[in-house]
Amino acid sequence: PGCPAVAATTRPVLTAVVLRHSCISRSDAFSAGNRTCFARRGVATTARFFAYALRMSDGNRLGQQNAQKQRAAERAVALVEDGMRLGLGSGTTAELFVQALASRVHDGLRVSMVSSSQRTQRLALKLGLTVVELDGPTDLAIDGADAVEIDTLAAIKGRGGALTREKLVAVSARQFVLVADASKVVLKLSAVQDTIPVPVEVLPFGWQTTARRLERIGQPMLRTRDGRPFVTDNGNLIVDLQVLTLNDPATTACDIATTVGVVEHGLFLNMAGLALVGTDE
Ligand code: A5P
Repeated sequence: PGCPAVAATTRPVLTAVVLRHSCISRSDAFSAGNRTCFARRGVATTARFFAYALRMSDGNRLGQQNAQKQRAAERAVALVEDGMRLGLGSGTTAELFVQALASRVHDGLRVSMVSSSQRTQRLALKLGLTVVELDGPTDLAIDGADAVEIDTLAAIKGRGGALTREKLVAVSARQFVLVADASKVVLKLSAVQDTIPVPVEVLPFGWQTTARRLERIGQPMLRTRDGRPFVTDNGNLIVDLQVLTLNDPATTACDIATTVGVVEHGLFLNMAGLALVGTDE
């Protein structure tokens, strides 16, 4: 009640796709890329995935993460078909997707796209891609995530501060696909409630009072950059909210969304239908 947009869960089955050599190819749905496999939901898959992600943590983590993001981005580009209108996310993984997309466009693929941030738009234009206004549905949107719940694909997003436009782009897409490295995958969002705050975009007007109202949900912290408040593409501020609990993400999302002064929050629930998670095998 009071949060119809959050409560309406009409999305169908959610599937996690893990990029590995050793698993079964799902060539009917996704024909390109022999590094792709279909990970069936359930305990066995989850355990296998986390054992796998643990092995991944040895060695040069940053280099590995970048390579994983690259694989996920390249796999996502394989979903793009000629004539599609795309939604572009923001962040490093989304940018890798844009770069991989540009190379297909230079090979003759015809697509147009809407961008969820000025930064992604600048990159797309620099690479010669066609960026249009968000004035209707798109076929496919691709975006990164800060955390993705393995079974539901509920996500926390917004570390880059683009969450409101990202959510607009996500809900406008017929298919919303997350791309991420393996470190982003969690069993439950509640497992990272103490380490990953939920970014909340708020109006600058009276933001301190908004932050105070958010204290019933968690510990708010105004985001700054170079000692000054971080300002979003929409001219708003970001409050990073260390929530008290994410045991029930829909309730937390509802509580945040109904706080006066809040523009949008970084809980993306019931939105992604697919997550492409790069691993290092
Ligand atoms: C941008 O506001 C964010 O939602 C990003 O999509 C998210 O932080 C993931 O970023 P990386 O792909 O850089 O990890």
